[in-house]
Amino acid sequence: MNMLRPFELPLGRRMAGSGDKLGVLIPGMGAVATTLIAGVHLIRKKLAKPIGSLTQMQEIRVRDEADAPMMPIHELVPLARLDDLVFGGWDIFPDDAYQTACDAGVLSREVLAPVRRELEQIRPWPGVFEQRFVRRLNGTHVKPAASKMAQAEAVMADIRQFMEERQLKRAVMLWCGSTEIHQTISPVHESLVAFEQGLRDSHPDIAPSMIYAYSALMTDLPFGNGAPNLAVDIPALRELADKRGVPIAGKDLKTGQTLIKTIMAPGLQTRMLGLHGWFSSNILGNRDGEVLDDPDSFRSKELSKSSVLDGILEPQRYPDLYGDYFHKVRIEYYPPRGDAKEGWDNIDIFGWLGERMQIKVDFLCKDSILAAPVTLDLILLLDLAHRAGLGGVQDWLSFYFKSPMTPPGVAAEHDLFRQHARLQDMLRRISRMNRSEQPDSEVAQTAGV
Ligand SMILES: NC(=O)c1ccc[n+]([C@@H]2O[C@H](COP(=O)([O-])OP(=O)(O)OC[C@H]3O[C@@H](n4cnc5c(N)ncnc54)[C@H](O)[C@@H]3O)[C@@H](O)[C@H]2O)c1
Repeated sequence: MNMLRPFELPLGRRMAGSGDKLGVLIPGMGAVATTLIAGVHLIRKKLAKPIGSLTQMQEIRVRDEADAPMMPIHELVPLARLDDLVFGGWDIFPDDAYQTACDAGVLSREVLAPVRRELEQIRPWPGVFEQRFVRRLNGTHVKPAASKMAQAEAVMADIRQFMEERQLKRAVMLWCGSTEIHQTISPVHESLVAFEQGLRDSHPDIAPSMIYAYSALMTDLPFGNGAPNLAVDIPALRELADKRGVPIAGKDLKTGQTLIKTIMAPGLQTRMLGLHGWFSSNILGNRDGEVLDDPDSFRSKELSKSSVLDGILEPQRYPDLYGDYFHKVRIEYYPPRGDAKEGWDNIDIFGWLGERMQIKVDFLCKDSILAAPVTLDLILLLDLAHRAGLGGVQDWLSFYFKSPMTPPGVAAEHDLFRQHARLQDMLRRISRMNRSEQPDSEVAQTAGV
């Protein structure tokens, strides 16, 4: 199936599936995943608000005109409701979601108490794992499988069984697993034919995240990648996503320091202030931090975090301002901090007549608190994209990623505000498509026009 670009959206087709249950399948039931699941259950019980989620809280203009009325995103487009989400997933450790959430320490036992029963019911299936890709973990709850193709078939069997038992017609998969080591594209990733042969041969360059992504696409589940490792970002799996018309998006959730960076850098560039250097340093002590202590896993993260500034500052266009800046990113594993990360930024800027100035940022953030609403939005929007007939890379979801995937030949957009404009634009297009069979007066009424 051809990938539809935004301007090719088929008009006049009401979206099926609103009101049905939606399966949410997560490889990697760690801090981010359990903070998401606990939050969704707390919000369902009206014990918390979905702070940080655009799909639940934000209003946007119904048309791209300054005087157009505003409407909540969840009313503008037919998203799955939080009450309709059904969670399942895989991990290489057997703990249920309550135990993992307690160990992760993002939310206190007091906060988790009202949803303890729901979390205890979520027990991960054994994961597909190969320690070469995440050296700091020694998984004990893993699938025994003869070949990588057999592992993919086992993941597909889990998906089908889950959907049958829970009577689900639709599901989305989101990788929240540990950051795998940095990999470059090799011949086995280049085409679907080579990749499927590689699965049968258990080719060493096929990482576990790629096996999950393949299984998702083969069962028509949209796939999002919350981590910086390649996963679905290889030509073979892009080909499969295009062929089957299934949406994919990635990589690496935009939270914490990179979020602040992509808010600040557009401001400096808009005011034509120059940059000598940007030094970013982090300390964190969760399992993610432990995994990133391995230089090869850190390399995946470093590349993802480092790529954002060039795209925003445009050094080729403004060599006097950004032609020679120094950008360095460090992450240090420091167990006492757990998930409560600290990110320092030292920014050396210059202004009128080249006079030097400094900006210091000290962000005391909770990584998974920032990540959870991002994962919720991605799940709902990937499902929406699928129902809207969009397949392949969804670069209108760049807003949510540090290192956005784009179709071949399209440059990634990193500026948070331009990314937000794209997101809104696409939501309006999908809304027009969904509403085009409703009587105009009804559309006008719901839009408050
Ligand atoms: N926390 C954030 O704000 C944030 C931001 C951006 C990206 N990320 C990325 O999201 C991912 C999850 O972050 P986290 O803080 O939840 O980490 P975490 O260590 O708490 O959770 C990761 C989980 O994945 C499991 N896992 C590892 N390999 C697996 C496999 N092959 N199959 C199934 N499970 C596997 C681990 O056992 C662990 O439970 C990481 O890759 C991280 O870099 C997190």
